[in-house]
Amino acid sequence: MTHILVTGGAGFIGAHTCKALALMGYQPVVLDNLSTGYRDFVQWGPLVQADIADTTAVAATITQYGITAMMHFAGSIVVPDSVRDPLTYYDNNISKSVRLIQTAVDHGVQNIVFSSSAAVYGMPDVARIPVHTPLNPISPYGYNKAVIERLLSDLSTARPDVRALSLRYFNAAGSDPDGQVGESHVPETHLIPLALDALSKKRAALTVFGRDYPTPDGTCIRDYIHVSDLAMAHVQGLRYLAKGGASQILNLGIGQGFSILEVLRTIETVCQMPVPFVWGLRREGDPARLVADADASRRILDWTPVHTSLDKIVADAWAWRRA
Ligand SMILES: NC(=O)c1ccc[n+]([C@@H]2O[C@H](COP(=O)([O-])OP(=O)(O)OC[C@H]3O[C@@H](n4cnc5c(N)ncnc54)[C@H](O)[C@@H]3O)[C@@H](O)[C@H]2O)c1
Repeated sequence: MTHILVTGGAGFIGAHTCKALALMGYQPVVLDNLSTGYRDFVQWGPLVQADIADTTAVAATITQYGITAMMHFAGSIVVPDSVRDPLTYYDNNISKSVRLIQTAVDHGVQNIVFSSSAAVYGMPDVARIPVHTPLNPISPYGYNKAVIERLLSDLSTARPDVRALSLRYFNAAGSDPDGQVGESHVPETHLIPLALDALSKKRAALTVFGRDYPTPDGTCIRDYIHVSDLAMAHVQGLRYLAKGGASQILNLGIGQGFSILEVLRTIETVCQMPVPFVWGLRREGDPARLVADADASRRILDWTPVHTSLDKIVADAWAWRRA
């Protein structure tokens, strides 16, 4: 069986991807320091509890399992924290990633799939963002992602035996439809889990930041992609690279936007309960609209998202949270 190194595999997207890998006949090997991940999210293969910068642990894992492909999810992900504490973000997302990638390629890893983000675009003023849109990250987090994308592209130019896929996610959401893993961040900053917690009185009312954006209802519009579809795109990405596909940067989204109020209305319909919320001021650096043009990913990865309705995303998130 082919073993795949999955850094950050104890986190939200990494764990769902491990499940998708196992379903498709791969053996994920998770390397995670559990800083924001959960031991019980690691259900489809071994866990190596280590930091990605622990070159000895990374090298030993790659050698032990004969690994030639890696998915790199591990990182720090809270955009406002990256503004407050850039050193931590540059260290965890850039310095440590460089050490990880260097150790990986030195020990025979040839195919790399990297978690990038729509944050690399900054505040683009287009209805659907194509991948060739000029990068203009406005947070340290977004800049961190752009640097590692660039490193991977420089690396694959210098080393034609190394191929990399950088996947720019829009808003990953939902939970495993079988309820085996779900969305739970530390700290939680994502809309749907926060709204579900507010609705079930686990948290205070949700704050909706900004009601005066140039959108039909005044709230921000985002592209929500079901985490299981996102996970499957990674497996397809791995297959693409294994077949000799060239290094690429791709968007992963659905190509359809929903405003915050539309998401809250969907949650109320699915859960049959009101979501308590209060209005807050706009947050600095929140674009009015972030919707992917992800047509190229579907074509290149031979990938078709299947859980594309917002109702399904919310229903799966709610089922996991209630359980
Ligand atoms: N959630 C989203 O909507 C979204 C959107 C765009 C990009 N991303 C990217 O996807 C990736 C996964 O995000 P997530 O939502 O699953 O976050 P998460 O916090 O649930 O998972 C991150 C995992 O990485 C681990 N980790 C962090 N630093 C580490 C280190 N130095 N060494 C070892 N393990 C470490 C954590 O313990 C955790 O298990 C991140 O790189 C994130 O930037 C996420």
